[in-house]
Amino acid sequence: VSLKPYNTFGIDATARYWVDISHEEDLTTLLHLTDFVDTPKLILGGGSNVLLCHNFDGLVVKISLQGINVVREDEDHIYLTAGAGVNWHELVQFCVKQGYAGLENLSLIPGTVGAAPMQNIGAYGVELEQVFESLTAIHISTGEKRTFTHADCTFGYRESIFKRKLKNQFIITSVTFQLDKRPTFHTRYGAIQETLTEMGISEENLSIKAISEAVIRIRRSKLPDPAQIGNAGSFFKNPEIPKSQFDTLKDQFPTLPGYPINDNVVKLPAGWLIEQAGWKGYRLGDAGVHTKQALVLVNYGNATGNEILSLAGKVEESVLIKFGVAISPEVNVV
Ligand code: FAD
Ligand code: EPU
Repeated sequence: VSLKPYNTFGIDATARYWVDISHEEDLTTLLHLTDFVDTPKLILGGGSNVLLCHNFDGLVVKISLQGINVVREDEDHIYLTAGAGVNWHELVQFCVKQGYAGLENLSLIPGTVGAAPMQNIGAYGVELEQVFESLTAIHISTGEKRTFTHADCTFGYRESIFKRKLKNQFIITSVTFQLDKRPTFHTRYGAIQETLTEMGISEENLSIKAISEAVIRIRRSKLPDPAQIGNAGSFFKNPEIPKSQFDTLKDQFPTLPGYPINDNVVKLPAGWLIEQAGWKGYRLGDAGVHTKQALVLVNYGNATGNEILSLAGKVEESVLIKFGVAISPEVNVV
């Protein structure tokens, strides 16, 4: 099976076996099939955060579990459970329409609900963990079902236990969100306020719908649409460095931007470092660095996973040489 249609980088790798799961019972049955017990498995949602570097000699399990249900509510909150295969942006739009607040800043992120806790997706001042209540997952080798609370997931910046200690061990089947009946507006990040003003939105008519629309506008203006150019969003994470190192770098590079995380740590925009290192718009064959956002690596057509990975290595190396700062991939390299 060609995986080209199933990864947004558009890498033409193949899988030995392929299955698309729409019912949880089928997943349990599959995990107990003796023929497949020892077969390596790759779990796939929308394929928008993977880089396939070789053909997969195993079973690709695409998760298509559907369903969005309000499970309970209290005076302030709506608790909603969504199947792991639900398209993320469809969930966001559903919530915005119903007036359930909390997901609007995360509009237009590609992929599925089940992959969202994997790297604690984030954008425009909000991270998944702020609205996360719990998730259910099935252990791949035992078939046992387990609930993970917020604390169990050990979320961090683009991190969770599922990317670290429990990597490749669980299949997430559903996620429960705690949403607000009365919204708290997050408009401080980046160009949100400016965009709202352009849209003619003032403080009096601010709404979660307006924020969602502003985020959609900003994202469309700088992020490449995978339907047109293959990519997986930010290829690298933004590095966090000690404040002392930041101060030294700032003397050397006075325009260096930095976002304080606490008194001792500063986060740097990797896009800036990569652009300054001269990579923005670079292209070798079909592998390239996006022209409008240097943090995004792109496939102009027929690049292989290894060509993208090799470009990533060169970018990492030159940023390290120029700034003494190590950047590391956000994307899951398979
Ligand atoms: P996949 O790529 O299919 O999988 C990602 C990882 O999760 C893999 O390791 C896979 O094995 C695992 N996985 C997937 N589903 C499951 C499951 N049900 N159970 C267990 N493991 C699973 N991310 C952000 O955080 N913020 C952004 O603003 C953002 N912008 C993006 C913009 C573009 C244009 C693109 C292409 C990507 C962007 N991303 C962003 C990255 C990506 O959208 C997210 O990481 C998303 O959550 C990936 O979902 P997916 O279903 O496509 O995951
Ligand atoms: N910048 C440059 N040149 C570039 C790109 C960025 O100088 O080519 C600098 C600018 O100073 C800009 C700053 O970087 O102000 C930040 O850029 P942007 O707002 O585009 O955000 P980012 O740090 O590049 C992060 C996330 C995105 C998320 C946006 C918005 C990471 C790794 N990436 O990108 O997430 O959508 O913020 O919140 O944290 C993803 O994870 O795939 C992703 C797209």
